[in-house]
Amino acid sequence: MKVLFVCLGNICRSPAAEGVFLHQLEQAGLSKKYTVDSAGTSAHHAGEWADQRMRSHAEARGIELKSISRQFIESDFDNFDLIVVMDDQNYKNCASLAHNDEHLSKLVRMTDFTPSFSEKEVPDPYYGGAAGFDHVLDMVEEGCANLIKKCEQA
Ligand code: 4NP
Repeated sequence: MKVLFVCLGNICRSPAAEGVFLHQLEQAGLSKKYTVDSAGTSAHHAGEWADQRMRSHAEARGIELKSISRQFIESDFDNFDLIVVMDDQNYKNCASLAHNDEHLSKLVRMTDFTPSFSEKEVPDPYYGGAAGFDHVLDMVEEGCANLIKKCEQA
């Protein structure tokens, strides 16, 4: 199973989701069954490590973020089984690169898997304070746990 997480810059939300998903897979003894990556719809931060604030907040939960930012590309639709976006703009930007219904069927929103949160998007923490980074982690921890359940049931 190949899972790709996508946000705008690939330095905050999607690296957090990638790191949390990998961490939960490891805890469940499932790492070998999955390939996990993340990407941004923008290339603005390509080549950069995840934002230091996001890394610190993840580290405080025992999660290391190791990803380097890269842009989402069309071939990701062929190379991944599931593409998990953080907000509506990410959804639209990815969908605009889809070639067919099979590609579109791979696109899901993280918030489809976060029933305890009323928000329909994982909010961008980049211009906000510390609480925003913790909130992203709270949401992606729930979302990733439910995603793993869904993948394991499939
Ligand atoms: P991300 O957050 O999409 O969660 O990685 C952002 C990172 C950078 C910018 C915006 C959002 N930026 O405008 O540079």
